[in-house]
Amino acid sequence: MCGIVGYIGGRNSQPILLEGLKKLEYRGYDSAGVAVHTLQGLHIRKTKGRIQELESQLEHQPLVGSAGIGHTRWATHGKPSDVNSHPHTDHSMKISVVHNGIIENHMQLREELEQLGCTFLSETDTEVISHLIAHYYEGDLIDAVRRAVSRIKGAYAIAVLSEHEPDKLIAVRWASPLIIGVGEGENFIGSDIPAILEHTRDVYILSDGEMAVLSCDRVELMTLEGNFIAKQLLRIDWDMMRAEKDGYDHYMLKEIAEQPRAYRDTMLGRIDGDSHGIVLPELQLAPEQIRQIQHIHMVACGTAYHAALVGKAVIERLTRIPVEIDVASEYRYRQPIIREHTLVIAVSQSGETADTLAAMREAKLSGAHILAITNVVGSSVAREADDVLFTWAGPEIAVASTKAYTSQLIVIYMLALYLSQCLNTLDAVTRTEMLAMMERLPVQIEEMLEDTRRVQRIAGELAECGNLFFIGRGLDYMVALEASLKLKEISYIHSEAYPAGELKHGSLALIEEGTPVIALATQEALLEKTISNIKEVKARGAYVIGVALEGNMDMAKTADEVIYVPRTHPLLTPAVSVIPLQLLAYYAALARGNDVDKPRNLAKSVTVE
Ligand code: F6R
Repeated sequence: MCGIVGYIGGRNSQPILLEGLKKLEYRGYDSAGVAVHTLQGLHIRKTKGRIQELESQLEHQPLVGSAGIGHTRWATHGKPSDVNSHPHTDHSMKISVVHNGIIENHMQLREELEQLGCTFLSETDTEVISHLIAHYYEGDLIDAVRRAVSRIKGAYAIAVLSEHEPDKLIAVRWASPLIIGVGEGENFIGSDIPAILEHTRDVYILSDGEMAVLSCDRVELMTLEGNFIAKQLLRIDWDMMRAEKDGYDHYMLKEIAEQPRAYRDTMLGRIDGDSHGIVLPELQLAPEQIRQIQHIHMVACGTAYHAALVGKAVIERLTRIPVEIDVASEYRYRQPIIREHTLVIAVSQSGETADTLAAMREAKLSGAHILAITNVVGSSVAREADDVLFTWAGPEIAVASTKAYTSQLIVIYMLALYLSQCLNTLDAVTRTEMLAMMERLPVQIEEMLEDTRRVQRIAGELAECGNLFFIGRGLDYMVALEASLKLKEISYIHSEAYPAGELKHGSLALIEEGTPVIALATQEALLEKTISNIKEVKARGAYVIGVALEGNMDMAKTADEVIYVPRTHPLLTPAVSVIPLQLLAYYAALARGNDVDKPRNLAKSVTVE
């Protein structure tokens, strides 16, 4: 997830681009850059680091010109560095491109272009776009851009500025957001509304497969096939604070809503429809090495640990390799037994958590192969691991992790399936079925998020209570742990999560008239037993809110309220059932008047042990 801005008009573009980029910094802040068409032609300034660093460079060597594009980067392909920063250009330095998204087939395109004589400077997927446009340019920039994007697979929002035709900017969107701001004698491009809100409130929101050609006094919209289209101009009445959150009141709510997109991005290019299998080309671990793995250890903290718990269950189920799991801060102090052929999987959103890093280092000293699952390219965890699988959730700003957790689940599912492919431990029918269900998850979640009124009402009621319980069996218990943490950290309501069968061994004593119990029951094989446990708490006066799969009538008869979630493969239910519980925590915290995005005593990245 990166930020894009573009300007063409009568003013000097540099300050407008810089201000726009600052407003988009929440989309990524590994590096920043601008390309401006000056009197001396196209000039690019870009640097690793925050926008302030670019700004100080530009103070010394300003770029003057009334058309420009800019970018703030959240690294995906290629570490954060000056050369990997955008804009990228072609060998003639006449075409500059900024891009947000992932080009799935960039390796093939790169090879093809190299054979044609192109020299690549960066490790990014984006650079293929600038070379492709240059390759197709025969005097018509629009045609060249159209031909270039027809070769690209994946997700992209791009903005193009060329010295060949400096009187226009071109923007194209496919599966990554892009808006066009319409001003008087000037027009704008932005990944998001905040980038341009200072200058205009009139915008076109591009849809997938649409292209905009901007000049100072005109915006032409067309399809990628070149057919002109008419679109409604929207008037934005948000204030700046809301605009930075895409119109949501809080980053947490925005990030919850982004989960379908995060699922899609995380799966992109990793599910092979032809072979009905998983492809993880980024993995160094060869199939022969995978076949030698005897043990897996997983280490992580907090929410990432809860994702790893699901990982343990799924990996063991699909591969039959025993998995040990530890809270990272405990791992090295228990002198773990790391034998030959042990794979250690470290899960961390930020990639900077000191406890997780220390656990990884400990395992590395003992010779284990370290595989990191992280959201941040260039983070310490990513750098120090032998192998990395990235979650493509985009920057997570709210302290309470939501989209990073679910993206971790998606990577873990893909990893487990990939391992099972190498080991031949899963039949092809089940694998195909699981993959099809994984691909349906984004739409199912979009549908679930359309109407959240029931969850909001229940959260409002729970906001009054001082104490509650989550129960569940199997994977439901693991989601219960995460739901309980989420509720605690932002609403400050005390809650505990228990395996549903465990309450009767002690904690049942805490249940009294009206005690809320949130009972997860998405594991149909365990349903009867979970229902019995629900009856046990109800008999002691508990007020039970069930979380069940659509159509589960037993829960409707047993619980006081039921939140239904869409049906999917039993191993995938955590990826759907956690979502209403994230919302429950959010709305309960809101009802209590808490600072949802910055809960007390907590920090987003915990870099101390
Ligand atoms: C809770 C939360 C934390 C983190 C934990 C690990 O919502 O976000 O529990 O999951 O601090 O952080 P990372 O994943 O960055 O290693």
